[in-house]
Amino acid sequence: MGFARLNSVSDSLYSKYLEHPLTVNDNKHYGQRAKRYIPGGAHTYSKGDDQFSSNAPDVITRGEGCYIWDAEDNKFTDFALSLGTVVLGHAYEPVLDSVRAELLKGVNFVRPSVIEGELAELLCDIIPCAEMVKLAKHGSDVTTASIKLARAYTGKERVVRCSADAFNAVHDWFIGSTVVDRGVPKAVKDLTLQFEYNNIDSLKALFSQYPGEIACVIFEPISFIEPKAGFLQAVKDLCEKNNALLIFDEVVSGFRFSLGGGQEYCGVTPHLAAFGKAMANGFSVSALAGRKDIMQLGGIEGEQERVFLLSTTHGGETHSIAAAIKTINTIREHNIIEHIWNIGGLIKAGLTKAAKDAGISDLVNVGGYDCKPAFALVDATGKPCMVTRTLFLQETIKRGILMPYIVPSFAHNAQVIDQSMERITEAFCVIDKARKENNIAGYVEGDIVKPVFRKFN
Ligand SMILES: Cc1ncc(COP(=O)(O)O)c(C=O)c1O
Repeated sequence: MGFARLNSVSDSLYSKYLEHPLTVNDNKHYGQRAKRYIPGGAHTYSKGDDQFSSNAPDVITRGEGCYIWDAEDNKFTDFALSLGTVVLGHAYEPVLDSVRAELLKGVNFVRPSVIEGELAELLCDIIPCAEMVKLAKHGSDVTTASIKLARAYTGKERVVRCSADAFNAVHDWFIGSTVVDRGVPKAVKDLTLQFEYNNIDSLKALFSQYPGEIACVIFEPISFIEPKAGFLQAVKDLCEKNNALLIFDEVVSGFRFSLGGGQEYCGVTPHLAAFGKAMANGFSVSALAGRKDIMQLGGIEGEQERVFLLSTTHGGETHSIAAAIKTINTIREHNIIEHIWNIGGLIKAGLTKAAKDAGISDLVNVGGYDCKPAFALVDATGKPCMVTRTLFLQETIKRGILMPYIVPSFAHNAQVIDQSMERITEAFCVIDKARKENNIAGYVEGDIVKPVFRKFN
């Protein structure tokens, strides 16, 4: 897609549905259409206007490597990489080649395609807990399926999730435990409990408070905080002692901390695990993986009452599965995990130096693992500050950088990081100036960004 097409667009009523043409060179035009027809203006809340400064591009038209372009042909260095899915970079040719080849054979069939079994076997090869696998499309499909399976397996109903996890699923068992719980029945909300990461006593307390009622404990095994020595194993032991299943949400940690996910990196194997995000370089594939005797409850053999585990029309979509196979093999063959760790380390060091050079080290927190860096703009008390964050986004976007969060990829390299850090230092200098004038809010040109999880708009 490019602007060469602008002049070739036909006036025909149907042409706009045929080729998604860019009819005008105007971000706002497309942004307004999206807001007119989509609640929230996007199909993912983290893409919404409320997450970005007002000068953010309303729409993106294309991406290549670690760069993306808007409808006005402005180019941005992308540090978010499609919500963390595009681990090899946008439009990565070898994956596209596999997809193209598969597309020519048809995309979905009345009986399983050969490629479904191939990906399942590959996943069982590389993920420690995987003895069987069920594919779906979204991370939420498989975290939620794991809850269903745990309830069926244990005959119990309560679910324990971790308060440190920002997100595990769009479904009621999770969303009902957040502040955005409108529309979730109380009976469902009451079944989800929360424990604290690295606080085994908080989990013990729940098992004591609800004896014989907890079906499973689900959480991200590793995210921004380092697990204390023995913590993950202690959670597993506690689950086993109480006949509950341990489920790792590896939607983000999978194919990032290690090829076999956080469980391989941390050396603790859960009973079930959910994968998604990076496994197909942006194509939609997710996987529930786990121990055979548990997973087989979702099967159709044996004298057992059935569990309707996961049954999705599009779960066997062949070109997405081909993308997953190519992505995983590329990660394995080209040591992409090591690259991601190195790049993330450079980004963290760069941000730390940029903040120091600009004189605002006290306003910028840089942390997290190198494969998944975290940063926050904070106030004088060290608390995350949405006003300073907005100014950061505004000033980096002015300089061609999109960094709402950081997802290192194969497409980033040292040169890209160096160039980006020069511009980020400039953005930090604006924050320094605004702070010195005691007027950070005065430098913000639009609305202040807001958290996704909030009670009111
Ligand atoms: C840790 C974690 N689990 C699950 C999900 C849900 O994945 P999806 O949006 O593909 O349903 C997300 C999404 O961001 C996530 O970050």
